[in-house]
Amino acid sequence: MKARQIIVEKNAERLAQKGAALFYEQARDAVTEKGHFAVAISGGGTPREMHRLFSKAPLRQQIAWEKTHLFWVDERAVPYDHPASNYGAAKADFIEKLTLSGDRIYPMPVGVDPETNAAEYQRQLQSFFKGKNAEVPVFDLIVLGVGTDGHTASLFPTTPADISTDKWVMAVKGGDPDVLRLTLTLPVINRARQVLFLVSGARKARIVKKVLENEDPLLPAARIRPESGHLMWLLDTDAASLLARE
Ligand code: 6PG
Repeated sequence: MKARQIIVEKNAERLAQKGAALFYEQARDAVTEKGHFAVAISGGGTPREMHRLFSKAPLRQQIAWEKTHLFWVDERAVPYDHPASNYGAAKADFIEKLTLSGDRIYPMPVGVDPETNAAEYQRQLQSFFKGKNAEVPVFDLIVLGVGTDGHTASLFPTTPADISTDKWVMAVKGGDPDVLRLTLTLPVINRARQVLFLVSGARKARIVKKVLENEDPLLPAARIRPESGHLMWLLDTDAASLLARE
């Protein structure tokens, strides 16, 4: 793993702006290098402010949306128009405002059978990355959040399945809301070229300290260590408030 970078921004608004700027830079570099940008985004509340910036100037024009392939890190097994749907939230926040073409948007399936959904998304990843000459998924960017219990994506400290699985997509149950979910697995996340954590608010300060300073291996967020990619933690001052000053 390359060196981990921690960036602290003044507040949630600045965090969203910085996150969006980093998103743009990864998109620009990926498109310059190979003509497309493959990114997986998370759900939860924290990224929504960043997502809302995507459809406004200057990100609306700057990001090569027509070359961007948008995947999800995790999804709750609820209909897309349910308030807890990660796809539904992103759709409202920027996808529909940008009128992005459906064939570059890859929401996780939410059909009745979780195992079928996991296999189906794994097939979609396989077919997309094979078409780009990659045998395994290597995202240009994966954006993550962290829960107060140290979960990230839908990888929970209590997830019974071994999070070191060789599957790319897993069905799990848990979290808040406590529902069935699909999640990308640790090996897929750790193969990304860049992993960006977005964390905001004082209620995250304790877990941020545990993950970044104690590196407790029981916490899924502490097991995110890209093999050869960059790991970046973008915090606001409240979330960073318990970190020892360097
Ligand atoms: C999900 C998420 C999850 C999220 C964290 C932080 O769909 O539940 O992807 O991993 O990132 O729970 O959520 P908040 O941003 O809402 O605190």
